[in-house]
Amino acid sequence: MTRITKAVFPVAGLGTRFLPATKAMPKELLPVIDKPIIQYAVEEAVAAGITDLIFITGRNKRAVGDHFDANLELEAQLAAKGKHETRDLVRNIVPQGVNCIFIRQAEPLGLGHAVLCARPAVGQEPFAVLLADDMMRGEALPTAALVAAYGANPRSYLAVDEVAPEDVPKYGIVRPGPTADEGGISVAGLVEKPALEDAPSRLASFGRYVFDPEVFDILDGLPPGAGGEIQLADAIDRLAAQGRVGAVRNPARRYDCGAKFGYLEAIVDTALAHPDYADAFSALLRDRIARIEARGTQSPDRSA
Ligand code: UTP
Repeated sequence: MTRITKAVFPVAGLGTRFLPATKAMPKELLPVIDKPIIQYAVEEAVAAGITDLIFITGRNKRAVGDHFDANLELEAQLAAKGKHETRDLVRNIVPQGVNCIFIRQAEPLGLGHAVLCARPAVGQEPFAVLLADDMMRGEALPTAALVAAYGANPRSYLAVDEVAPEDVPKYGIVRPGPTADEGGISVAGLVEKPALEDAPSRLASFGRYVFDPEVFDILDGLPPGAGGEIQLADAIDRLAAQGRVGAVRNPARRYDCGAKFGYLEAIVDTALAHPDYADAFSALLRDRIARIEARGTQSPDRSA
């Protein structure tokens, strides 16, 4: 059985939806409590058996490299202050035996182009792709599910969520194939952002994938698509037309941290489950809800 040991993290986008926060700082370093969103994605990949992390970086993204690099000076300072636990926290961001590779995408020509930039580091092996914007919480996480699906039947896979009708036009929507194999979903095509009445299903693709290396041949030579960008969705659609794509239902709760409201939800749910803050934070929320409800009969309290 082919093991998947490489994961690609495209982090070269401009992050315009979070400006001005992302003017000088990459959006992948926005924190949810005390960890940047990219670290959650890296932990998910490592938990799925990935040992080579390939970051596709662009302008303003040096800080992503710094985050995953050793910082011996900081470690020494923390040790000198007796803060050994914090030192270990910083030291173990990338576990032993896991390697980081950084490749620069000179221009943000699209997600498909960013994935193609990983080709020299990936070679002829299957690989995972994780977009840090999509943050997961749960016992089972999608990258492990995709890796297992590849092991059972090698081809490319998308993680999918069934989305509410009003959300269908925001996603790439799966056109299911005629056969359901081994309990999985076969994908006949991927329709980008369809109107609800034209959507072939409500199964939405999001930022978790496993690809057979044949995807590189398709990406190489793919003309620009929507927005003048080389679109990963177009390559997936072509692979799907050849019967080479399956879909796996996401076993986790997903937060779209590329959008402000999804990011807020991720922070609230993570705080509510946090060992140090769960109790105090639920008390805070109860207090705020009581104030919001009281507003129904009183004038708004802007201090809430
Ligand atoms: P998005 O569509 O979310 O774009 O990219 P963005 O620039 O990151 O954010 P907004 O929409 O302007 O706020 C999806 C993923 O593809 C990567 C991004 O870093 C993100 O992880 N990407 C996109 C690249 O690496 N290179 C590109 O040329 C485009």
